[in-house]
Amino acid sequence: MDDIQGSVEADLPQIIAISSGKGGVGKTLLSVNLARTLSWSDKRILLVDLDLYNRGSTTLIADSPIIDQLTVAGMLESVQDKSNTRLRNEISEKEIVDVTDDSGNPIPLYLVPSTTTNTIVRWDQYSYDLSRLQKFMLRAVRELNKKYNLDCVVFDCRPGPEPLFLAAAGIATDIILVTEADIITLNGNINLYRYLADTYRNNSEVLRNVRFVINRIPKGQDIAHIERRYMRRLVDLFKTRPNLASIPFDDAIFQSFGQHRFAVDQLPNSPFSKHIACISVELFSSNHDELLSDRCRNMASTVNEPWFSAGKRALVEAFESLMKTRNER
Ligand SMILES: Nc1ncnc2c1ncn2[C@@H]1O[C@H](COP(=O)(O)OP(=O)(O)OP(=O)(O)O)[C@@H](O)[C@H]1O
Ligand SMILES: [Mg+2]
Repeated sequence: MDDIQGSVEADLPQIIAISSGKGGVGKTLLSVNLARTLSWSDKRILLVDLDLYNRGSTTLIADSPIIDQLTVAGMLESVQDKSNTRLRNEISEKEIVDVTDDSGNPIPLYLVPSTTTNTIVRWDQYSYDLSRLQKFMLRAVRELNKKYNLDCVVFDCRPGPEPLFLAAAGIATDIILVTEADIITLNGNINLYRYLADTYRNNSEVLRNVRFVINRIPKGQDIAHIERRYMRRLVDLFKTRPNLASIPFDDAIFQSFGQHRFAVDQLPNSPFSKHIACISVELFSSNHDELLSDRCRNMASTVNEPWFSAGKRALVEAFESLMKTRNER
């Protein structure tokens, strides 16, 4: 594989790429609800559905058929265009989807759907050249940022070492790898981390941006024990202590999947929602040295209801302070 560098640009929005070693672990649920939680702070959040097949975020959020809107598949047609005019035209001519809450009220969250409704994309329709894809991704974010003035972009990716995820990871400020606690899923996630480390071997900054989320931890299991075990393996393998957080299996969330757009709005006091809110606050805190999970748990246990306003306040503060730190750099 060609040597490829990661590149995080200071004047771009925060960019969060979410993937996993294995499918069906909760990437989409996390992406959509993380994006929604971030939008509570009145920042402008763009969710990009990079899963061209399962299109989870698109299906969950966009209720009318996607026809003349900007889509990832549409933008990808311009990957080969070095002059970048096709991408610019695509972005200037088409609008992204304005997302509403479940009552139909507009919220500062926007969606780039993966594909138009009822289309399929063939892999050979776009380039596999990773450095080209990464440049495309950066240009796309820059152009979208110019047009929509974004604070944060969240990429909901396909599982595995898929080119669009690898490209997004190279420009991301945070890379979240979602796993479950069982050994098979965990191994898949560790291999994805390995793949990422191999791809970006010249740039340790990319690996510093990786955070792990152990999702759907079954009731009755000792979360702290699972986290310690996982962390030991990561330290053994990579001599590094990436941020780690976990989310318990939440029955009410599982039952309601697909019924409404945002679980965090509908079930704000569920364990899932509290953990998502904590993770979103912690993502924007500049201190990444502590274990994300410890701080998340502490936060989830100390915050009293109504969680929504407390979480929102903490989020606004964390976001403002992160932006200040970035601007001072
Ligand atoms: N913490 C949780 N508690 C309960 N159910 C969960 C939790 N996280 C995810 N789920 C459920 O797991 C299922 C899969 O979730 P989701 O579609 O978000 O996974 P995914 O990783 O995006 O899948 P794919 O790889 O197909 O894109 C859904 O039914 C969802 O409700
Ligand atoms: Mg998904």
